[in-house]
Amino acid sequence: MTADLKTKFIIEKIKESKLSKADFSHLVFGKLFSDHMLVADYFDGTWQTPKIIPYQALPYEPSAKVFHYGQAVFEGMKAYKDTAGNVFLFRPEENFKRINQSAERLGMPSIPKEYFIDGIKELIKLDKDWIPTGMGESLYLRPVYIATENAVAASPSDSYRFMVITSPAAKYYSGDVKVKIEDRYSRACDGGVGYAKAAGNYAAQFYPTEKAKNEGFQQIIWTDSGQHKYLEEAGTMNMFFRIGDKLLTAPTIPESTRILPGVTRKSIIRLATDHNIDVEVRPIEIKEVIEAAKNGQLKEIFGAGTAATVLPIVGLKYKDYYTDLPKPDKSYADFLKNKIMDIQYNRAEDPYGWRIKID
Ligand code: COI
Repeated sequence: MTADLKTKFIIEKIKESKLSKADFSHLVFGKLFSDHMLVADYFDGTWQTPKIIPYQALPYEPSAKVFHYGQAVFEGMKAYKDTAGNVFLFRPEENFKRINQSAERLGMPSIPKEYFIDGIKELIKLDKDWIPTGMGESLYLRPVYIATENAVAASPSDSYRFMVITSPAAKYYSGDVKVKIEDRYSRACDGGVGYAKAAGNYAAQFYPTEKAKNEGFQQIIWTDSGQHKYLEEAGTMNMFFRIGDKLLTAPTIPESTRILPGVTRKSIIRLATDHNIDVEVRPIEIKEVIEAAKNGQLKEIFGAGTAATVLPIVGLKYKDYYTDLPKPDKSYADFLKNKIMDIQYNRAEDPYGWRIKID
């Protein structure tokens, strides 16, 4: 534990829960928020006492640095409930490590582990009745970390707030997803912030993604900014390409600073490898995927991410070329999705110690 760290959470419970008014039968991803939130402020060079308080608006001035310079990073996690009502997190230490990796890149102080891990556990204990129990449903957790100093000078803030809000969630993508390989716009460049979960990485994707949506594609697969030659990630998910029986995915940090090192991606690589699927983590040329599509060797493409879990892609476009991607008989996406969800929802043994029970 860090010296002088104030690790006892102040808990202020909501006077009247909003739960009875929440409509769990029409859950839309990320629209409904539970009763409480976690907040921890950093100022005067130190972390202040963390609190769990009713979900509420923030008290910041328009001059707060986050609004001007986007000094903000976040995470995506989920809490799952099994059929007996036990509650679990999935690999929270990975998200803890990643938020501090992102924070470092944006010049922000490290968040103490006690605040992140213990804070999330306390918050979930308080709002566990908000975890939906339908197939594929969960409580989506959104840790977010922002610069709060009131100053328009372009320099790192001297004060920050770390927060966690939670949202009962159904599937992120409710319909079929077709993707377009982007060969004009870029999401990230070498030495940039692509590997960090920086808020601005997402805003930068909205305009090209909207253009792709207008052409009938729900997501973009980003390519390297230098040559637009290699396939990278989809912004909401890392990507996997099955050519023949081989599963390919692009490398993340340290090999590439452009791609988010997804927790689901890492878990899928491990599960696939342990089930004798040949996985290659290496730069993937657009050319080889399109050739494989043309000669029938491209069996499937799927995305992997916390919100999306494992998502089969049903169509692929590159320049003037388009192909449907019908699901193969023995789909790796289905197999791996079931394997990861078995662990997340406590439907099977967890030989990896990924599932963390909240008592
Ligand atoms: C997640 O998968 O948790 C993310 O943060 C992606 C976001 C676009 C919902």
